[in-house]
Formats: sequence, structure tokens, C-alpha cells
Amino acid sequence: MSETITLMKSHTSVRRFKEEAIPQEDLNEILSAAQMASSWKNFQSYSVILVRSQEKKDALFELVPQEAIRQSAAFLLFVGDLNRAEKGAHLHTDTFQPQGVEGLLITSVDAALAGQNTLLAAESLGYGGVIIGLVRYKSVELAELFKLPDYTYPVFGIALGVPNQKHAVKPRLPLEHVVFEEEYQEQSTEAIEAYDRVQTEYAGARATTTWSQRLAEQFGNPEPSSTRENLEQKKLL
Ligand SMILES: Cc1cc2nc3c(=O)[nH]c(=O)nc-3n(C[C@H](O)[C@H](O)[C@H](O)COP(=O)(O)O)c2cc1C
Repeated sequence: MSETITLMKSHTSVRRFKEEAIPQEDLNEILSAAQMASSWKNFQSYSVILVRSQEKKDALFELVPQEAIRQSAAFLLFVGDLNRAEKGAHLHTDTFQPQGVEGLLITSVDAALAGQNTLLAAESLGYGGVIIGLVRYKSVELAELFKLPDYTYPVFGIALGVPNQKHAVKPRLPLEHVVFEEEYQEQSTEAIEAYDRVQTEYAGARATTTWSQRLAEQFGNPEPSSTRENLEQKKLL
């Protein structure tokens, strides 16, 4: 296996960090590697807000009580960003109509690719981290805290730092249940129950709900309203 594949296959999210900073030089390396991710038409429709002050991390923790945020050496907020696009487009036209699903997919996918590159680059230097999607549940408040302008919205954050915990790698779905030859194959309920058992065994004493129960919690309820409300306020919906 290549070094890169070995690194990718040893990924685990890290949510507890030592009280150690990440040197500026390392952050620059991580973020410039992240920037090399592919993006839709090279638009690079995202921005990153680097949060290092404890005051700001604490303010964010008040809104999104995830311990990883408070303990992180650096918290990176990945923002879907068509604000630059608006300025670029206006050099050539008076109309700008980014509202809708395609604009959201373009920006979210660009941010996600850069985010995954960020985490992998950080892991390659011995740091750890976790993606925090729960920031979206406080989209309106975050937009205010980080002064996000029109045509921008929080997609997710990444808490980074020097790891202070180590977990076993979390087992994924069997490859043949995710990768299909030539055409889609719907899953049997048995396959899902089998993965429930794999996940429960992995979690051991920490298991409180099964994988499919978490699916039910997520998708059995309406989506949180703040994401949509913020997207409407920022003229993206
Ligand atoms: C888009 C996205 C959002 C996530 N949001 C959170 C979060 O808010 N809090 C958290 O603790 N983990 C979060 N995670 C981490 C996942 O729970 C984790 O990646 C998954 O359980 C697989 O575990 P592993 O990364 O250790 O392999 C998120 C991951 C992704 C990709």
C-alpha cells in the first residue's frame, strides 16, 4: 500500500486535544494543500475562517456545545461562498441569480473536498481532528458571530489539534454494499441489520443507539429550520 492509502485507512475522528498550538507554518502547509482540491469550474466556492482565540472558540462552544471545539488548537469554519462569485459576475452582467439547489451543491461540494483535504493533510503531520456539521443547526447565530455576508453560509467546521485520545478505526459498510457494478442495487434490510451489529460491537460499552436508530433520529424528523432560514437571509434560497 502507498503511504497515502495507509494514512487514509487509519483515519479516526479525534475529539480531545492536548493544550498545544499548531505552528503557523504547519497551518499554512495544511491549508495550502487543502486548496489543491478540485472545485467546480475552479470557482473555489468556499472560504475558511481560522479561529484560534479561546474567546471565540468559547463563544462558538456556547452555541454548539461540542467539546472538540473548545479544546481545539484551531477551529476552521468552512463557509460556502458565492460572495466572490457575485463580485466576479458583476464585472460582466447586472444579473446574479445563485438561488437554488445547484448553487448550494456547488458550494457544499467544493467546501467538502477542501475540508477532507484539510483533515488528511493535518493527519499526515500527526495532528487529529473532527468535522463538526452541527454548526449548521446554529447557522443564523454563526453568520452573526463570524460576520458572514450575503451569498455565504456555514457548511461545517473542523476542530484540529494534537490528539489526546486514540480510537480503533471505525468499520465501514462492506464495500459491496456501497460500490455497485454497472447499476444501482437497493440494500436488503438484513444488510442494514448486519451493519447495525458491526457498529454496536465496535462501539462496545459506549453504544447507546444503533446505526439505524441514528438514521431514524436524523431523518424521522423535519430538518432543523435554522439552516434554511439562514440560506434565505443570505439570498441563497
Ligand atoms: C459532514 C460531517 C459532519 C460531522 N459532524 C460531526 C459533529 O457535529 N460532531 C461530531 O462529533 N462528529 C461529526 N462528524 C464526524 C463523524 O461522526 C465521523 O466522521 C463518523 O462517525 C465516522 O467516524 P470516523 O471519522 O472516526 O471514522 C461529522 C462528519 C461529517 C463528514
